[in-house]
Amino acid sequence: MNDKNVIWITGASSGIGRSLALKFANEGWVVAASARRENLLQELHNENENIHSFPLDVTNVEQCKTVFDDIIKKFKNIEICVFGTGIHDPKSEKSFNLDKIRKIMEVNYFGTMNSINSIYEYFINKKSGQISIISSVAGYRGLPAAGAYCASKSALTSFTESLQFEMRRINVRVSLISPGFIKTPMTDQNDFPMPMIKSPEFAAEQIYIGLIKKKGFEIHFPKTFTYFLKFLKILPHAIYFKLLTIGYKK
Ligand SMILES: NC(=O)c1ccc[n+]([C@@H]2O[C@H](COP(=O)([O-])OP(=O)(O)OC[C@H]3O[C@@H](n4cnc5c(N)ncnc54)[C@H](OP(=O)(O)O)[C@@H]3O)[C@@H](O)[C@H]2O)c1
Repeated sequence: MNDKNVIWITGASSGIGRSLALKFANEGWVVAASARRENLLQELHNENENIHSFPLDVTNVEQCKTVFDDIIKKFKNIEICVFGTGIHDPKSEKSFNLDKIRKIMEVNYFGTMNSINSIYEYFINKKSGQISIISSVAGYRGLPAAGAYCASKSALTSFTESLQFEMRRINVRVSLISPGFIKTPMTDQNDFPMPMIKSPEFAAEQIYIGLIKKKGFEIHFPKTFTYFLKFLKILPHAIYFKLLTIGYKK
Protein backbone atom coordinates (compact mmCIF):
# COMPACT_ATOMS: atom_id res chain seq x y z
CA MET A 1 0.00 0.00 0.00
CA ASN A 2 1.34 3.43 -0.94
CA ASP A 3 1.04 6.18 1.67
CA LYS A 4 2.22 9.02 -0.58
CA ASN A 5 -0.08 11.10 -2.77
CA VAL A 6 -0.12 9.99 -6.39
CA ILE A 7 -0.46 12.17 -9.48
CA TRP A 8 -0.86 10.90 -13.06
CA ILE A 9 0.57 13.26 -15.69
CA THR A 10 0.23 12.68 -19.44
CA GLY A 11 2.58 14.53 -21.79
CA ALA A 12 5.30 14.07 -19.15
CA SER A 13 8.24 13.33 -21.47
CA SER A 14 8.84 16.94 -22.49
CA GLY A 15 8.13 20.64 -21.90
CA ILE A 16 5.48 21.60 -19.36
CA GLY A 17 4.56 18.02 -18.41
CA ARG A 18 8.18 17.12 -17.76
CA SER A 19 8.75 20.13 -15.49
CA LEU A 20 5.48 19.43 -13.72
CA ALA A 21 6.49 15.80 -13.07
CA LEU A 22 9.77 16.98 -11.54
CA LYS A 23 8.02 19.65 -9.46
CA PHE A 24 5.55 17.18 -7.93
CA ALA A 25 8.25 14.54 -7.44
CA ASN A 26 10.48 17.09 -5.68
CA GLU A 27 7.52 17.93 -3.41
CA GLY A 28 7.38 14.27 -2.38
CA TRP A 29 4.54 13.07 -4.61
CA VAL A 30 4.59 9.76 -6.45
CA VAL A 31 4.33 10.65 -10.15
CA ALA A 32 2.96 8.27 -12.77
CA ALA A 33 4.44 9.78 -15.92
CA SER A 34 2.97 8.99 -19.35
CA ALA A 35 3.94 9.78 -22.94
CA ARG A 36 5.08 7.71 -25.91
CA ARG A 37 8.87 8.16 -25.60
CA GLU A 38 9.79 5.57 -22.99
CA ASN A 39 13.49 6.55 -22.95
CA LEU A 40 12.61 10.09 -21.83
CA LEU A 41 10.34 8.76 -19.09
CA GLN A 42 13.18 6.50 -17.95
CA GLU A 43 15.50 9.54 -17.82
CA LEU A 44 12.95 11.26 -15.59
CA HIS A 45 12.93 8.23 -13.29
CA ASN A 46 16.73 8.35 -13.15
CA GLU A 47 16.53 12.03 -12.21
CA ASN A 48 13.98 11.45 -9.46
CA GLU A 49 12.94 7.99 -8.28
CA ASN A 50 9.48 9.29 -7.26
CA ILE A 51 8.72 9.40 -11.00
CA HIS A 52 7.52 6.13 -12.55
CA SER A 53 7.26 5.47 -16.25
CA PHE A 54 3.91 4.42 -17.75
CA PRO A 55 4.38 4.66 -21.53
CA LEU A 56 1.20 5.53 -23.40
CA ASP A 57 -0.13 6.71 -26.73
CA VAL A 58 -3.28 8.61 -25.75
CA THR A 59 -4.88 8.05 -29.16
CA ASN A 60 -5.26 4.39 -28.15
CA VAL A 61 -8.38 4.17 -26.00
CA GLU A 62 -7.67 0.62 -24.76
CA GLN A 63 -4.08 1.48 -23.83
CA CYS A 64 -5.35 4.41 -21.73
CA LYS A 65 -7.53 1.97 -19.73
CA THR A 66 -4.68 -0.52 -19.32
CA VAL A 67 -2.24 2.14 -18.14
CA PHE A 68 -4.80 3.46 -15.64
CA ASP A 69 -5.31 -0.12 -14.31
CA ASP A 70 -1.52 -0.56 -14.04
CA ILE A 71 -1.15 2.67 -12.04
CA ILE A 72 -3.94 1.66 -9.65
CA LYS A 73 -2.47 -1.83 -9.29
CA LYS A 74 0.91 -0.37 -8.42
CA PHE A 75 -0.09 2.57 -6.18
CA LYS A 76 -3.72 1.77 -5.15
CA ASN A 77 -4.72 5.41 -5.53
CA ILE A 78 -4.65 8.46 -7.81
CA GLU A 79 -5.30 11.82 -6.18
CA ILE A 80 -4.73 14.11 -9.17
CA CYS A 81 -4.77 13.57 -12.93
CA VAL A 82 -3.22 16.20 -15.18
CA PHE A 83 -3.92 15.46 -18.82
CA GLY A 84 -1.41 17.56 -20.76
CA THR A 85 -0.76 15.75 -24.00
CA GLY A 86 -0.75 18.06 -26.98
CA ILE A 87 0.64 18.70 -30.45
CA HIS A 88 0.84 21.74 -32.66
CA ASP A 89 2.06 21.96 -36.25
CA PRO A 90 2.48 25.64 -37.24
CA LYS A 91 3.69 24.80 -40.79
CA SER A 92 0.55 22.84 -41.59
CA GLU A 93 -1.63 25.72 -40.34
CA LYS A 94 -0.50 28.07 -43.11
CA SER A 95 -3.08 26.51 -45.44
CA PHE A 96 -6.08 24.19 -45.04
CA ASN A 97 -4.85 20.65 -44.37
CA LEU A 98 -7.54 18.12 -43.49
CA ASP A 99 -5.17 15.33 -42.43
CA LYS A 100 -3.32 17.61 -40.02
CA ILE A 101 -6.57 19.05 -38.64
CA ARG A 102 -7.77 15.49 -37.92
CA LYS A 103 -4.44 14.52 -36.35
CA ILE A 104 -4.38 17.54 -34.03
CA MET A 105 -7.98 16.88 -32.98
CA GLU A 106 -7.19 13.17 -32.48
CA VAL A 107 -4.33 13.89 -30.05
CA ASN A 108 -5.36 17.14 -28.34
CA TYR A 109 -9.09 16.55 -28.00
CA PHE A 110 -9.81 12.82 -28.40
CA GLY A 111 -6.54 11.85 -26.69
CA THR A 112 -7.71 13.78 -23.66
CA MET A 113 -11.19 12.24 -23.94
CA ASN A 114 -9.59 8.76 -24.01
CA SER A 115 -7.66 9.70 -20.88
CA ILE A 116 -10.76 11.01 -19.09
CA ASN A 117 -12.65 7.89 -20.17
CA SER A 118 -10.12 5.71 -18.36
CA ILE A 119 -10.51 7.50 -14.99
CA TYR A 120 -14.17 8.59 -15.13
CA GLU A 121 -15.74 5.72 -13.16
CA TYR A 122 -12.86 5.75 -10.68
CA PHE A 123 -13.48 9.39 -9.72
CA ILE A 124 -17.28 8.91 -9.74
CA ASN A 125 -16.81 6.23 -7.05
CA LYS A 126 -13.93 7.95 -5.24
CA LYS A 127 -15.88 11.20 -4.73
CA SER A 128 -12.71 13.21 -4.10
CA GLY A 129 -9.52 14.23 -5.92
CA GLN A 130 -8.81 16.36 -8.94
CA ILE A 131 -8.93 16.15 -12.73
CA SER A 132 -7.04 18.89 -14.53
CA ILE A 133 -6.84 19.50 -18.27
CA ILE A 134 -4.09 21.49 -20.00
CA SER A 135 -5.82 23.56 -22.66
CA SER A 136 -4.45 26.95 -23.78
CA VAL A 137 -5.25 30.63 -24.14
CA ALA A 138 -5.41 29.63 -27.83
CA GLY A 139 -8.79 28.14 -26.88
CA TYR A 140 -10.23 31.58 -26.08
CA ARG A 141 -10.73 32.72 -29.69
CA GLY A 142 -9.59 31.87 -33.22
CA LEU A 143 -6.01 33.10 -33.80
CA PRO A 144 -4.37 33.65 -37.21
CA ALA A 145 -2.65 30.58 -38.73
CA ALA A 146 -3.62 28.31 -35.83
CA GLY A 147 -7.15 27.17 -36.72
CA ALA A 148 -6.73 23.46 -35.96
CA TYR A 149 -4.86 24.06 -32.72
CA CYS A 150 -7.30 26.77 -31.51
CA ALA A 151 -10.30 24.57 -32.39
CA SER A 152 -8.86 21.60 -30.48
CA LYS A 153 -8.18 23.78 -27.43
CA SER A 154 -11.52 25.57 -27.46
CA ALA A 155 -13.23 22.15 -27.64
CA LEU A 156 -11.16 21.04 -24.63
CA THR A 157 -11.95 24.19 -22.70
CA SER A 158 -15.70 23.83 -23.29
CA PHE A 159 -15.64 20.15 -22.38
CA THR A 160 -13.73 20.88 -19.17
CA GLU A 161 -16.25 23.59 -18.22
CA SER A 162 -19.06 21.07 -18.69
CA LEU A 163 -17.28 18.31 -16.80
CA GLN A 164 -16.79 20.47 -13.72
CA PHE A 165 -20.61 20.71 -13.27
CA GLU A 166 -21.08 16.96 -12.83
CA MET A 167 -17.86 16.42 -10.87
CA ARG A 168 -18.41 19.35 -8.49
CA ARG A 169 -21.60 17.63 -7.20
CA ILE A 170 -19.54 14.63 -6.07
CA ASN A 171 -16.67 16.61 -4.57
CA VAL A 172 -14.20 16.04 -7.44
CA ARG A 173 -12.43 19.25 -8.45
CA VAL A 174 -12.05 19.83 -12.19
CA SER A 175 -9.65 22.55 -13.31
CA LEU A 176 -8.56 24.07 -16.58
CA ILE A 177 -4.95 25.04 -17.24
CA SER A 178 -4.52 27.87 -19.76
CA PRO A 179 -0.85 28.71 -20.29
CA GLY A 180 0.38 31.62 -22.38
CA PHE A 181 3.64 31.11 -24.32
CA ILE A 182 6.01 28.64 -22.62
CA LYS A 183 9.42 27.77 -24.10
CA THR A 184 9.20 24.08 -25.05
CA PRO A 185 9.87 21.92 -28.13
CA MET A 186 6.31 22.80 -29.19
CA THR A 187 6.86 26.58 -29.27
CA ASP A 188 10.42 26.15 -30.63
CA GLN A 189 8.66 25.48 -33.96
CA ASN A 190 7.11 28.98 -34.02
CA ASP A 191 8.76 31.50 -36.37
CA PHE A 192 7.30 34.65 -34.76
CA PRO A 193 8.12 36.60 -31.58
CA MET A 194 6.22 35.18 -28.59
CA PRO A 195 5.32 37.92 -26.10
CA MET A 196 6.05 37.28 -22.40
CA ILE A 197 7.30 33.75 -23.05
CA LYS A 198 8.16 31.89 -19.82
CA SER A 199 10.10 28.77 -18.88
CA PRO A 200 8.51 25.33 -18.32
CA GLU A 201 9.70 25.56 -14.69
CA PHE A 202 7.66 28.76 -14.28
CA ALA A 203 4.65 26.95 -15.76
CA ALA A 204 5.13 23.99 -13.41
CA GLU A 205 5.32 26.28 -10.38
CA GLN A 206 2.12 28.07 -11.39
CA ILE A 207 0.30 24.80 -12.01
CA TYR A 208 1.52 23.35 -8.69
CA ILE A 209 0.25 26.43 -6.80
CA GLY A 210 -3.04 26.32 -8.71
CA LEU A 211 -3.64 22.65 -7.95
CA ILE A 212 -2.38 22.47 -4.37
CA LYS A 213 -2.82 25.92 -2.84
CA LYS A 214 -5.82 27.35 -4.67
CA LYS A 215 -9.33 26.19 -5.43
CA GLY A 216 -10.38 28.12 -8.57
CA PHE A 217 -11.42 26.60 -11.88
CA GLU A 218 -8.87 28.17 -14.23
CA ILE A 219 -5.11 28.18 -13.69
CA HIS A 220 -3.77 30.73 -16.17
CA PHE A 221 -0.37 32.38 -16.51
CA PRO A 222 1.54 34.60 -17.01
CA LYS A 223 -1.25 36.86 -15.77
CA THR A 224 -0.36 40.07 -17.70
CA PHE A 225 -0.56 38.11 -20.96
CA THR A 226 -3.58 35.97 -20.12
CA TYR A 227 -5.64 38.93 -18.83
CA PHE A 228 -4.87 40.76 -22.09
CA LEU A 229 -6.16 37.74 -24.05
CA LYS A 230 -9.24 37.59 -21.79
CA PHE A 231 -9.86 41.24 -22.74
CA LEU A 232 -9.53 40.35 -26.46
CA LYS A 233 -12.03 37.53 -25.88
CA ILE A 234 -14.85 39.92 -24.95
CA LEU A 235 -14.32 42.35 -27.83
CA PRO A 236 -16.85 42.44 -30.67
CA HIS A 237 -15.67 40.55 -33.78
CA ALA A 238 -15.04 43.69 -35.87
CA ILE A 239 -12.63 45.20 -33.29
CA TYR A 240 -11.00 41.82 -32.50
CA PHE A 241 -10.33 41.10 -36.19
CA LYS A 242 -8.95 44.62 -36.78
CA LEU A 243 -6.55 44.40 -33.82
CA LEU A 244 -5.34 40.91 -34.69
CA THR A 245 -4.90 41.79 -38.37
CA ILE A 246 -2.61 44.70 -37.39
CA GLY A 247 -0.62 42.37 -35.09
CA TYR A 248 -0.50 39.61 -37.75
CA LYS A 249 0.91 41.98 -40.43
CA LYS A 250 3.81 43.13 -38.17
N1 LIG B 1 4.24 25.63 -24.80
C1 LIG B 1 3.26 26.51 -24.81
O1 LIG B 1 3.46 27.71 -25.05
C2 LIG B 1 1.85 26.06 -24.51
C3 LIG B 1 0.89 27.05 -24.33
C4 LIG B 1 -0.41 26.68 -24.05
C5 LIG B 1 -0.73 25.36 -23.93
N2 LIG B 1 0.23 24.39 -24.11
C6 LIG B 1 -0.17 23.00 -23.96
O2 LIG B 1 0.62 22.40 -22.97
C7 LIG B 1 0.73 21.00 -23.24
C8 LIG B 1 2.21 20.61 -23.24
O3 LIG B 1 2.84 21.28 -24.30
P1 LIG B 1 4.41 21.58 -24.36
O4 LIG B 1 4.55 22.96 -24.84
O5 LIG B 1 5.03 21.15 -23.11
O6 LIG B 1 4.82 20.65 -25.60
P2 LIG B 1 5.86 19.45 -25.78
O7 LIG B 1 7.13 19.76 -25.08
O8 LIG B 1 5.89 19.20 -27.24
O9 LIG B 1 5.15 18.24 -25.00
C9 LIG B 1 4.06 17.55 -25.54
C10 LIG B 1 3.90 16.27 -24.78
O10 LIG B 1 2.79 15.54 -25.31
C11 LIG B 1 3.19 14.19 -25.54
N3 LIG B 1 2.43 13.57 -26.61
C12 LIG B 1 2.25 14.01 -27.88
N4 LIG B 1 1.49 13.14 -28.58
C13 LIG B 1 1.19 12.13 -27.72
C14 LIG B 1 0.44 10.92 -27.83
N5 LIG B 1 -0.18 10.58 -28.97
N6 LIG B 1 0.32 10.12 -26.73
C15 LIG B 1 0.92 10.46 -25.58
N7 LIG B 1 1.64 11.58 -25.41
C16 LIG B 1 1.77 12.40 -26.47
C17 LIG B 1 4.69 14.29 -25.88
O11 LIG B 1 5.34 13.06 -25.58
P3 LIG B 1 5.75 11.94 -26.62
O12 LIG B 1 6.13 12.61 -27.90
O13 LIG B 1 6.89 11.24 -25.93
O14 LIG B 1 4.54 11.06 -26.75
C18 LIG B 1 5.12 15.36 -24.88
O15 LIG B 1 5.38 14.77 -23.63
C19 LIG B 1 0.05 20.77 -24.60
O16 LIG B 1 -1.27 20.33 -24.37
C20 LIG B 1 0.04 22.16 -25.21
O17 LIG B 1 -0.99 22.31 -26.14
C21 LIG B 1 1.52 24.72 -24.40
